Amino acid sequence: MIQFNGRGAALAAAALLFATSAASAQQEPAPAPSASAAAPVSWAAFSGWKRYHGNCATCHGPDGLGGTFAPNLVNSLKTLDHDQFLNTVVNGKKDSNLTMPAFGLDPNVMCYIEDIYTYLKARSDGTMDRGRPAVTPTKPKDVAEAEASCMGV
Ligand code: HEC
Repeated sequence: MIQFNGRGAALAAAALLFATSAASAQQEPAPAPSASAAAPVSWAAFSGWKRYHGNCATCHGPDGLGGTFAPNLVNSLKTLDHDQFLNTVVNGKKDSNLTMPAFGLDPNVMCYIEDIYTYLKARSDGTMDRGRPAVTPTKPKDVAEAEASCMGV
């Protein structure tokens, strides 16, 4: 009986911990829902795919897999958290003889940075395949409005 109570308490504590981490996880953009290339992805993941390839892939390679000039971000996002990612993109980084430019003043990057994070995180978590998502999602109206106001149009 005592053992059972102890186990129950431990489970309750674990459930509480899980609830807490699940709540804080909700702060992050939702990852793409599926591992299949043919499955639809969220607007954020699709937008991130597009913006990544417009602004980052020249150095970081197609699909986030790294290039001659910059590291593999599919690997980096296994250890970098959201804040470290943002900090690097906003302020740049130079830990080697290669330079990561600062994008903090570039609206073409900063207005879409959460989308780019969502895309790279989904690639890193293995929930999104290489290549263009097979299905193009519809841009939600509130996203279109937020984008226009961020871009100042
Ligand atoms: C001109 C080339 C270039 C472009 C364009 C570029 N990066 Fe980088 N990036 C680098 C280099 C080089 C590094 C490694 C810097 C170092 O060694 O300190 C890096 C590092 C990073 C890191 C840190 C990786 C780690 O493991 O610490 C992140 C995150 C990152 N870049 C994200 C981006 C994103 C997102 C974009 C597009 C908005 C982008 N980069 C565009 C060159 C680039």
